[in-house]
Amino acid sequence: MNPIALAIHGGCGVLPKSDLTEEEWAQARTDLAVALRAGWSIIEGGGSALDAVEAAVVVMEDSPHFNAGHGATLNEQGFHELDASIMDGASLAAGAVALARHIRNPIRAARAVMESGEVVFIGAEAADAFARDHGLDMVEQAYFTTRRRVDALAAMKARVVAGTVGAATEAEKHGTVGAVALDRHGHLAAATSTGGFTNKAVGRIGDSPVIGAGTYARDGACAVSGTGQGEFFIRHAVAHEMASRVAYLGETVETAAAKIIHGDLAKYGIGAGLIAVGADGSVTLPFNTPGMFRGWVTPDGQTHVATHK
Ligand code: GLY
Repeated sequence: MNPIALAIHGGCGVLPKSDLTEEEWAQARTDLAVALRAGWSIIEGGGSALDAVEAAVVVMEDSPHFNAGHGATLNEQGFHELDASIMDGASLAAGAVALARHIRNPIRAARAVMESGEVVFIGAEAADAFARDHGLDMVEQAYFTTRRRVDALAAMKARVVAGTVGAATEAEKHGTVGAVALDRHGHLAAATSTGGFTNKAVGRIGDSPVIGAGTYARDGACAVSGTGQGEFFIRHAVAHEMASRVAYLGETVETAAAKIIHGDLAKYGIGAGLIAVGADGSVTLPFNTPGMFRGWVTPDGQTHVATHK
């Protein structure tokens, strides 16, 4: 039987213990496990990698513990603009939304854009209108807002005044969720969703909805989802770079990811991580920060979740 594989992330960062209560840490780990099971049950039953990555990301978008959907970061004006994308490695079909303000699950909207077959990327009011027209759940902004994100915005604004933004932890600033999968039919898929970062400019779009930067999948090569400061993932076309290294240099996903995260991106001093699955089912989850919310399933079906190194 062909191998199947699944990995997820809930964002990289410093993740100080004090960021969350013991109960919240436990809940975040539980939500990662639920996301893994949601995706794994699909591919284990012969379903598609595309359905699996969407299902896993929906769980993390619905969790308050990750920076996507409910629990997303607030921008400089105190509201949410959400980005997401999804890609099918079999056909190279892809869909993305950016700057969405009312779509409960942006990853579902990205999938709907992909399925529409006409365009790849829709932004701002048009993304909300597209989702509404396609019958997706729409919510008020308040649905996305949590006390933690309100406090994080206040803290970041205080850092701006104090001139200490550079000292902010990755967890204070960023966070993203993503999933990559290989199904029984040998097809790869990737999905990524984010609120961007705390105190970001209105209208700022990161790497998560940019195909080839934060998300990429190509059968025979790999599926990739990134987390970290998006501007650098865009400049390095990180997710596509991964696929190119694997396809053209014959590198394993582990080698390719290590070269990018610990090599190419190292000189910027930014927090960065990614998850990738290869065409052979091998999985890698490198990051250069003290922690990254992450999970993977071993071939025997055992789920694993981790937060720190
Ligand atoms: N990696 C998420 C962002 O920069 O928006």
